[in-house]
Amino acid sequence: MVEKTYDRETQDVGNVLALEHVNVTVPDPELAALFYVSGLGLTRDPYIDFGGANMWVNVGSQQFHLPKGDAQVLRGTIGVVLPDLDQCRARLARFVRRAGDRLAGTAYSCTEGEDGSLHVTCPWGNRLRAHGASDAFGGMGLGLPYVEFDVAPGTAPGVARFYDEVVGAPSSLTDIGGRPRAEVRVGRAQRLWFTETDAELAAYDGHHVAVYLSNFSKPYRALRERGLVTLETNDHEYRFQDIVEPDGGTVLATVEHEVRSMFHPMFDRELVNRDPAQNVFAYREGHDAYVGLTHGGRG
Ligand SMILES: [Fe+2]
Repeated sequence: MVEKTYDRETQDVGNVLALEHVNVTVPDPELAALFYVSGLGLTRDPYIDFGGANMWVNVGSQQFHLPKGDAQVLRGTIGVVLPDLDQCRARLARFVRRAGDRLAGTAYSCTEGEDGSLHVTCPWGNRLRAHGASDAFGGMGLGLPYVEFDVAPGTAPGVARFYDEVVGAPSSLTDIGGRPRAEVRVGRAQRLWFTETDAELAAYDGHHVAVYLSNFSKPYRALRERGLVTLETNDHEYRFQDIVEPDGGTVLATVEHEVRSMFHPMFDRELVNRDPAQNVFAYREGHDAYVGLTHGGRG
């Protein structure tokens, strides 16, 4: 009898448990609400009130954080899973009609991707790639499955080594149409991608992503040794922004990471999500809340 074998490494999560939010400042909170809430169909966090100074927008178990300020543009593409892309197409068409002249001269666009995804650029230039709910991304039905950062040629192998050796996240090198990509495992089904591009990168403008770590102190010590910790926020959080070659220290990419421990009071916080299909004209009793998977479950 042949003993069945299993690839046990497919079940390893690694040290980064979750990618929780993407933070980009927006100059016009009202237009941002029209885009993220009315257009994409997401949900404003009802519990955290910033007045007009900031807005948190829930996407399943993840969030966009949108403080008011000069526009920040993430250097890459934010993956978004939505329950129904056709409904999203219709909502974005309504968003364009509602926003009207306010979109003139902005970066807003919406085009069809070759793989069935929807490529949406926010009015200030943040690129989103919207996917319909499917078995991809661990069955996630609403959420942020990945952020893909554009990085300079030749840096992807070092970025993978950094996450492996400094952060403790299993990372591998793949190839996307001839462009090397470092793939960092986050939780069960999320990913950070660092994909090389020949295009010139804009100067880093301070946008950030937030992640939760299982082992919080070991990466902290490794980052401290290299002089990379940029902010000692509090017991539960520190920040770094340079991703470096683990041995030589050469800076390979820059994006601020808000690093949180599992003791952070917002770890695994329950987020309110509405069913984006619900509306006043075709109201369905009992369908206000989104029901479905808001995190990647199945591997
Ligand atoms: Fe943040």
